[in-house]
Parts: sequence; C-alpha cells; structure tokens
Amino acid sequence: MNNVEGKVVIITGASSGIGEQTARSLVAEGARVVLSARREDRLAARAAELGEDNAAYLASDVSKLEDMQALVALAKERFGRVDVLFANAGIMPAGPMSAMDYTGWMAQVDVNVKGVLNAMAAVLPDFTGQRRGHIIATSSVAGTTLVPFNAVYCGTKHFVRAMLSSFRTESVTEGTNIRTTIIYPGKIATELLNSAAEGPGKEAARKAYAAEAIPAGAIADAVLCAVGQPDSVDVSDIVVRPTAEA
Ligand SMILES: NC(=O)c1ccc[n+]([C@@H]2O[C@H](COP(=O)([O-])OP(=O)(O)OC[C@H]3O[C@@H](n4cnc5c(N)ncnc54)[C@H](OP(=O)(O)O)[C@@H]3O)[C@@H](O)[C@H]2O)c1
Repeated sequence: MNNVEGKVVIITGASSGIGEQTARSLVAEGARVVLSARREDRLAARAAELGEDNAAYLASDVSKLEDMQALVALAKERFGRVDVLFANAGIMPAGPMSAMDYTGWMAQVDVNVKGVLNAMAAVLPDFTGQRRGHIIATSSVAGTTLVPFNAVYCGTKHFVRAMLSSFRTESVTEGTNIRTTIIYPGKIATELLNSAAEGPGKEAARKAYAAEAIPAGAIADAVLCAVGQPDSVDVSDIVVRPTAEA
C-alpha cells in the first residue's frame, strides 16, 4: 500500500504537534509537503530537516483566504500540483462559557471553522477541475460527542464533521472523485493545551493528558493510511484515541 509516493500534500498547522509529525511521516513515505502555519522559524527548521526537494513552506494564517491561495500557488510553483489538503490547524482556548472569553470563541471560529473553509476554497477549483483530490481535516473526539467546558471548540469540531461528510456526498453526486477523510483524535501529546484558559479545568486536563496522551505519530499513521489507499478507496472517518482514554 503506497499511494503516498510522489503526492503533493499541503499541511496546515505544520509548525507543531500533529501537523509537524505528519509532515515527517509523509516525506518518509515519498510524499512532498507544503507546510503552513504562522511561526515561520518553526516551518523553516522543519523544511530544512525534510530537505528542499521534499518540503516547501509559507508563513500563513488559515483565517485569511489570500494566505491559503498563496499556499496553493507555492505548491504548484514548487511541485507542479496539489494532490492532498490536510486541513489540520486548530486552537482550543477551552473554558466555561460563563467566563465570557468572547475573543477566544471568535478565534476558534476563525481558525477551526473558517480556516478549514479557506483552505478548502483554495484547493477546490483545481480538485474539481482535475476530477481528483483528497481533503483530510482534523476534527476531534469532541466532534463526535458533547464536551462541557469546551463548548465552542466542540461546536467547531462538529462543524468539520458535518461539513466534510456532507461535501463527500456532493462529490459523489457530482462525480468529482474527491476523497475526504475526517480524523477524530482523542488526547494527543502536542502544544494544543497551551492555549486553554488557566484554571482548575486546565489543571485537570493537564493531568489527564499526562496520564493518557499518546504521541502525534498515531495521527500521522492514520493520515498515511488514508492517503495510501488506492484511488477507489475512501477512508471517510478515523477515530484514534489512547487505549487508556474513556
Ligand atoms: N492534541 C489533541 O489532543 C487533539 C485532540 C483532538 C483534535 N486535535 C486537533 O488537532 C489539530 C492539530 O493540533 P495539535 O494537537 O497538533 O496542536 P498544536 O501543537 O497546538 O498545533 C496547532 C497548529 O495549528 C497552527 N495554527 C493555529 N492557529 C493558526 C492560524 N491562525 N493560522 C495557521 N495556523 C495556525 C499552529 O501553528 P502557529 O501557531 O505557528 O500558527 C500549530 O501548527 C487541531 O485542529 C486540534 O484541534 C488535537
């Protein structure tokens, strides 16, 4: 199973955690990657590690459509086309709604909802035109159930699930052959918790992550599995959680 080799994969949220590890794993299997995030120094270090022939990067913000369009332009300039979008960037400034972190609510909509749509808008014209492509997005276990004290995040991850599942059926109806994969991670050891509001909730989450979280490689393996299938096989949904997670 190596339908990975030679593919050109755009990865948002590639400066740390799941996106960073997935870039490594994809390149190890012969893909070429185009890395997106805001922290340019981290992207530059990752691209240097992966090699110029295998990796390009652009400091870019998923909440800006023009940044995502520039990312696609870079992919085409460096590698000729885009085969796969991994729309993975996300933030989780968790906390109870009663804390009224309005800025955090809106930031989650900008990154977790609009960010996925902006990245999709940037690749869709080519994918539709070439009648081929693969859109992978990172939802969460929080996109499959209801999570207290993380209500807006939970809502954004349900959005990813509903939108991409619905898009999959459109793609079938329109005969565009665009594959879709929604990844639902449980607790993964990354920087995600850093953005949660300080307080008893964050302390409890820290303890739970310390006890249960698994490495980001577990999600990278799921992405590789989805990308590596024959074109006729769509791995639509993958839940990956620690064995120890309830
Ligand atoms: N870790 C978990 O337990 C877990 C569980 C379920 C789902 N997830 C999801 O997994 C995805 C990846 O998160 P992670 O766990 O790997 O956390 P992470 O290490 O904090 O990575 C988040 C990535 O998103 C990028 N990002 C944030 N805001 C951005 C923006 N406005 N524009 C562009 N990039 C932006 C960050 O880069 P910059 O800051 O450099 O821009 C970073 O590369 C997220 O969608 C998250 O919701 C994680």
